[in-house]
Amino acid sequence: MPENKVEVNRENPSKMAEGMAMQRFSESAKPENERICHDSYAVHFISPEIIKFGMEHPKEAKEKVEQMEKLFPGLSSSIMARVRYFDDFTKKSIDEGIEQLIILGAGYDTRAYRIEEFKDIKVFEVDHPNTQSFKIQKIGEIFGSLPGHVVYVPVDFEKETFSQKLFDNGYDPSKKTLFIMEGLIMYIPPKAVAETLLFIVENSGKGSAVIFDYYPESIVDGTCKLEIGANIRNYVAKQGEPLQFGIKEEKIEDFLIEFGFSKVQNVTSKDYKKLYFRGKNENRDVCELLYFAHAVVE
Ligand SMILES: C[S@@+](CC[C@H](N)C(=O)[O-])C[C@H]1O[C@@H](n2cnc3c(N)ncnc32)[C@H](O)[C@@H]1O
Repeated sequence: MPENKVEVNRENPSKMAEGMAMQRFSESAKPENERICHDSYAVHFISPEIIKFGMEHPKEAKEKVEQMEKLFPGLSSSIMARVRYFDDFTKKSIDEGIEQLIILGAGYDTRAYRIEEFKDIKVFEVDHPNTQSFKIQKIGEIFGSLPGHVVYVPVDFEKETFSQKLFDNGYDPSKKTLFIMEGLIMYIPPKAVAETLLFIVENSGKGSAVIFDYYPESIVDGTCKLEIGANIRNYVAKQGEPLQFGIKEEKIEDFLIEFGFSKVQNVTSKDYKKLYFRGKNENRDVCELLYFAHAVVE
């Protein structure tokens, strides 16, 4: 089994979070009837040098995108489907009476600002302090001040548990709560994943839910036979944000039930391809290694 030496570097704002903002920005530039998701604020979280390069050298920028697509076939489309699926899920959760939203590993997630209905709900954004401080600065620049419904909770999952900090910041464990972990659990240690899931089951109101995405364990431990698996593993490690956690294929239900969740739903690439990739998008590839899952606390 290839060695998975974990050398985490979180001294600067997360490169992966910026990469996600870049993907949302580029999808958002497509016509309304073509794009899978839309985030008009994403542009603010991309370094000005990258935006300038894209504007001044469109041919080279396009070639870079094509190179990434060769390295990770379909992954970008899977990530766009993830944004859309999580958007749809959160909107549905609001309709079903969610009273609190916790976004773990929030990065430059802008749901609290772009989904109108969230403005009446308390939203807790939890992220590494070095990424969160950059986000807070940008949110201040975009809106002139920080929105009153969002509470920022800086936590390093490698070094601390977030539970006490959430309580200190006004988290109410009796409320029906939605926990979003988008592009997070693969980057944190298994112990932190387990603590987080246990916290959700033990400290949230009836009908609370969790939604997250995951890679199969074989990508993380290096045994995945697909070239894209090795490419993902190597690429994120080079960014200083190595993969640390995956779930055994076809074991998601057992995994979540063991923590006490119920109504587990696994969403495969086939499922989201069918849901969102129609018409002009019909021929877009998705990546079979990226799964979504959601479950309920009863
Ligand atoms: C791939 S980004 C995803 C960001 C955002 N959820 C999105 O989908 O655009 C991963 C996020 O997890 C956060 N993260 C990773 N490891 C962390 C840790 N040990 N403690 C706190 N946050 C962490 C990073 O700061 C980053 O914002």
